[in-house]
Amino acid sequence: MESPVRHAFLLLTLPALAVAVIAACSDEPSSDSEDVTGDDAGSTVIPPGSEPSSGPSGPAGSGLATGLPCDVQGILENRCIACHSTDDPPPLLDYDDLKAPSKKDPKKTIAEVALDEMRAKTMPPTPAVPPEDDEIASFEEWIEAGAPKNPIACTDPPPDGGAKDGGGDAGVDAGPKCTSGTFWTRGNDGSQLMNPGEACNACHQQQGGPNLRIGGTVYPTLREPDDCNGSAPPLRVVVTDSRNRVYNMQVNAAGNFLTRNGDRPRPPLRAVVTNGQQTRAMVGTVTSGDCNSCHTVNGTNGAPGRIMAPGP
Ligand code: HEC
Ligand code: HEC
Ligand code: HEC
Repeated sequence: MESPVRHAFLLLTLPALAVAVIAACSDEPSSDSEDVTGDDAGSTVIPPGSEPSSGPSGPAGSGLATGLPCDVQGILENRCIACHSTDDPPPLLDYDDLKAPSKKDPKKTIAEVALDEMRAKTMPPTPAVPPEDDEIASFEEWIEAGAPKNPIACTDPPPDGGAKDGGGDAGVDAGPKCTSGTFWTRGNDGSQLMNPGEACNACHQQQGGPNLRIGGTVYPTLREPDDCNGSAPPLRVVVTDSRNRVYNMQVNAAGNFLTRNGDRPRPPLRAVVTNGQQTRAMVGTVTSGDCNSCHTVNGTNGAPGRIMAPGP
């Protein structure tokens, strides 16, 4: 069976290939991101006549199809949904939510007001940092195209429908245990080592801190509690985006990894963890860069638990 994600990748990438051949240079200074296609525009708008996806749908953050373009879905997940997932403030979880009339300005849709708010730098509210230009541009491109529904799932549905608890790996049934025996104790003191295991962007959306395009924690086992320091270096998390650009992130002393300023991976994303010899891969793709939002101590949205280091 042909995977919906492969479809999405081809359909969204092909129109940009001609541009990429001419303008094969990158505007992204990131030191070790490998630039393969080199385009930075044209992948938000959904091509007409795309085949509908057979994949299951669900709210932003769940890893399922939302009806939104992949870039837009990723922005909402990384920057908005920690607040906008219930009735008040209004949900920003799927296509219908974005097309609903705004309460602030009933002549506009929520999507249009969302663009206004991001341009005015009023959403997300301080102390969160304002969205970056490319994030606003992706949103704008979609609105200007008439905010069409994306019929294609950005992500692979998780194996087994996602509801499984545990993947049958070692340590699953032993209960949470902090293998390193050491914890982060400095609260929300901003640091690359902070709050290992917690969802980085869900907190940064509300309490400040950088908008990490990707952030998370690698652990030696699937079941480790929040704030427990994770796997020690040398390990790398390697993420490949929709343009085949590769982002190499070193795992730090807390087990955390994160993108640097200027890194702008565009979802859907693929991910592996490697120690140089062995790798452990995520089979599916995701639009959210908030890795720990699914890779919790028990795993949510079908994730088997923590992101686990490869090897013995
Ligand atoms: C820290 C919580 C928080 C975050 C994060 C946040 N919002 Fe909001 N948002 C609110 C609250 C509270 C309101 C209602 C009060 C207001 O309008 O200021 C609101 C209102 C809005 C509205 C107006 C809704 C309407 O009916 O017109 C839009 C649109 C919106 N937010 C978009 C966004 C977008 C887009 C993001 C992410 C880029 C975002 N928000 C992130 C808290 C948040
Ligand atoms: C419970 C809330 C919370 C969580 C969870 C959280 N952070 Fe933060 N983070 C903050 C706040 C608040 C700041 C800004 C305050 C400051 O810089 O002192 C911040 C700042 C940062 C900074 C900037 C530090 C600097 O030197 O300016 C980095 C890097 C960072 N966080 C990384 C992460 C990573 C990686 C994760 C996930 C593993 C994470 N954070 C999880 C609240 C959080
Ligand atoms: C929307 C939820 C979700 C998000 C966000 C997510 N994952 Fe996953 N991840 C899963 C699911 C479901 C699986 C199991 C199925 C599979 O491999 O696709 C998984 C499996 C994995 C695995 C293999 C099993 C393990 O636990 O070690 C790795 C490695 C991994 N993810 C890395 C990442 C990285 C890195 C990120 C951030 C870029 C990330 N994931 C974000 C849902 C998610």
